[in-house]
Amino acid sequence: MGVMSSVKHPHPSRQDSHASSGQPEILEINRLLELRRSSIHGWGVFARCDISEGARLIEYVGEKIDKEESNRRGLAQYEKAKETGEGAVYIFDLDEEWDLDGDVPENYAKYINHSCAPNSEAVNEDNRLWIFALKDIPANGEITFDYGYDIEHYLDHPCRCGAPECMGYIVSRVQWPKLRRILARTRAAQKRAAGKSTKKAAKKTKKATTKKRKTR
Ligand SMILES: C[S@@+](CC[C@H](N)C(=O)[O-])C[C@H]1O[C@@H](n2cnc3c(N)ncnc32)[C@H](O)[C@@H]1O
Ligand SMILES: [Zn+2]
Repeated sequence: MGVMSSVKHPHPSRQDSHASSGQPEILEINRLLELRRSSIHGWGVFARCDISEGARLIEYVGEKIDKEESNRRGLAQYEKAKETGEGAVYIFDLDEEWDLDGDVPENYAKYINHSCAPNSEAVNEDNRLWIFALKDIPANGEITFDYGYDIEHYLDHPCRCGAPECMGYIVSRVQWPKLRRILARTRAAQKRAAGKSTKKAAKKTKKATTKKRKTR
C-alpha cells in the first residue's frame, strides 16, 4: 500500500447543518459502521454496535489502476500532501499488475485510521478488498488497521494511535525490529550530543568564574 492521504472534508453540507444545530457530526455508513471525528486524526470510522471477531465490515472500493499510473498518482499526491501538510494517497496493492486508488467519494473505508494495535485488516478476495474485524470490537470503538507503510520515510509519518504499544511512527509491523534499532541509535546519539553540550556549558561557566577571580 502506498502513502495515504486525508481529505479535508468528507461531507461539507452535512457538517454545516450539524454545526449550526450544535449536533455531533455523525454519518451512518452501514449497519455496523459510522463516520465521525477521531482523536487519532481527522475523520475516523467507528463501530455502531458490538462487532464480533471475523465480521466483514466494509469493502474498500476504488479505481483499479496499473502500477505505472499508481506510481504517477502516488508521487503527485505525495508532493501535494507535502505542500498542504495534509495526508497523502489511498492506494492499495491489489496484485503484481494492479492497484486500487481508493480516493473516490463512495469509499468510506478510506477514513479508517492506522493503529499500532489494529482491530481490523484488509483482505484481498478475488481482487476485491474487504476489511474484516481482527478481534471483538465494542460499540463506539474506532476501527483501525495497519497501514503497512515502509520504514523508508518513517519521520514523515508520526503515529498518534494512542495504543500502549505505539511505535511512534506509522510503519509496517514487520519492520518494527529495524525501526527499534534506528530509534535506539538516534536516542543514543542525542544523549551523547546532550552530554557534550552540558560539558561545554560547564567549561564555559568555569572559565567565566576564573576570569572573574583574575579581575579582582
Ligand atoms: C486515509 S487517511 C485516514 C482518514 C483521515 N483521518 C481523514 O480524516 O481523512 C490517512 C491519513 O490520516 C492520518 N492518520 C491516520 N492514522 C494516523 C495515526 N495513527 N496517526 C497520525 N495520523 C494518522 C495521516 O495523516 C494519514 O495520512
Ligand atoms: Zn501508533
